[in-house]
Amino acid sequence: MNPIIAANWKMNMNINEGLSLVNNILDSSPSKKSQVIFFPPFITLNAISDRLKNTRYEVGVQNIHHEQSGAFTGEISAQMIKSLDVQYAIIGHSERRQFFHETDYQINKKIHNALSANLFPILCIGETLEERESGETSKVLKKQLSSALKDVDSDVKGLIVAYEPVWAIGTGITANSNQVNEAHGFINETTSQLLENPVPILYGGSANADNAAELFQIKNVDGFLIGGASLKSESFCQIIKNIT
Ligand code: PGA
Repeated sequence: MNPIIAANWKMNMNINEGLSLVNNILDSSPSKKSQVIFFPPFITLNAISDRLKNTRYEVGVQNIHHEQSGAFTGEISAQMIKSLDVQYAIIGHSERRQFFHETDYQINKKIHNALSANLFPILCIGETLEERESGETSKVLKKQLSSALKDVDSDVKGLIVAYEPVWAIGTGITANSNQVNEAHGFINETTSQLLENPVPILYGGSANADNAAELFQIKNVDGFLIGGASLKSESFCQIIKNIT
């Protein structure tokens, strides 16, 4: 399987900045072997997906609402996204769980809505530092997985999971090889009990050009979900080059 490299721009990049970033990445053409997916903010989606038409790069959304339509001022549903040339949706990112109080119930509804709109979900899961220190990592990961995947067909295709320890996101602290090995192994075991098809597992949390190659050697690490280091073409292209 080719590595999957997902760029989560979060609340960064206006249209011109986003276009200039993807133009630089296209120019430096870092690898033909990786599957690269950009997650720009909603307002730039159209421009970025237009620019990437007929290229090997793909586009996704950072969030969707858990209902399909209705009186939810300011929100955007999976069904609306499908009118654009967009293939993926990040669901359950820890920043949404933490700052927007997203619940497991809503995350499960988002997974169902994404799938019914033919968007492939990237389901984010991960423990807080407190949960890790009290030895609850596996319990938390299992609960997040089983509640997010409740009533999802066991033969679902295209689902991706991102292991993102909350304490490693945007902090410059990366999980060490043992921690990543253990968590990815556990996620792989759990998803293979719940689902029939293999589920790629990405690592996210301060992944960068210096640590990606080493982390990518670890079993069950199929790629990365990258925040900070995806905002500059040099660091992003370097990550791609280092793992392909
Ligand atoms: P980071 O973010 O690479 O800046 O830690 C990762 C993410 O939040 O997906």
